[in-house]
Amino acid sequence: MDTKDSSAIEQLSLKELATRLEPDLLPKHIAIIMDGNGRWAELRSLPRIAGHREGIKSVREMITVCLELGIHALTIYAFSQENWKRPIQEISSLMGLLEYYLSTERSKLIEQGVRLRTIGRLDSLPASALQWVRAAEQETAHLDKLHLTVALSYGGRAEIVDAVRELLHEAEEGKLQPDDVDESRIQQCLYTHDLPDPDLLVRTSGETRISNFLLWQLAYTELYFTPTLWPDFRRRDLLLALLEYQRRERRFGRVLSGISS
Ligand code: IPE
Ligand code: IPE
Ligand code: MG
Repeated sequence: MDTKDSSAIEQLSLKELATRLEPDLLPKHIAIIMDGNGRWAELRSLPRIAGHREGIKSVREMITVCLELGIHALTIYAFSQENWKRPIQEISSLMGLLEYYLSTERSKLIEQGVRLRTIGRLDSLPASALQWVRAAEQETAHLDKLHLTVALSYGGRAEIVDAVRELLHEAEEGKLQPDDVDESRIQQCLYTHDLPDPDLLVRTSGETRISNFLLWQLAYTELYFTPTLWPDFRRRDLLLALLEYQRRERRFGRVLSGISS
């Protein structure tokens, strides 16, 4: 598609965008690196936490759109292992916001049929935040309209380290031989063992890096980078990302059928 087509698409109304989506070509699993909250706040001379707060509205909207479209799984990067290096005030505000989100959204998630789970080294979280997380996980455990996975204190390398440790423990107990280790055995030890790999990764805020997110799982994911800051990323932006995804050709290393060598 050329630039003219893509700017024409951007002029379309929400309704027109939605009608262009092909239900059979929707991703089953979307992963999002929700970036740019701080810059959103700075642009308005507000404290960074105001951007994080506004970003919650975007999360809410993503959940609603995924449910409407029947997208099975949404994984959002909320706090990385590296984010522990931020100033303590920002970390405490973010943890407070996490508790606020879980306490205020819990009933809505249940009503919408959303199962919430978390991935990451959760034992680093403050006790009260962890309690809210565990409560939300338990209360939504029976739901399955949308699998919402929140990456918290998450690092892709740490996830692989944890998988290797699990395998070594099994080997130590004599339950695993070196030749038993293959890709699927490693996949079973990842935090995301019961989720399909993401079909689409969205990163907002103009950064074009992965920042230690889902390193194993993104091997063949379509990557979509947008300059839009996370608090501004709403229904329209997700529909545009989905339309772009539908234009991609996922080859997985194969050659196109119909093209002779
Ligand atoms: C993303 O927004 C949220 C978290 C990492 C917790 P940022 O806080 O990274 O915002 P920018 O990138 O500084 O604008
Ligand atoms: C990635 O954003 C982590 C989250 C969105 C939670 P960062 O803002 O922390 O990433 P870098 O530092 O720009 O790579
Ligand atoms: Mg950032």
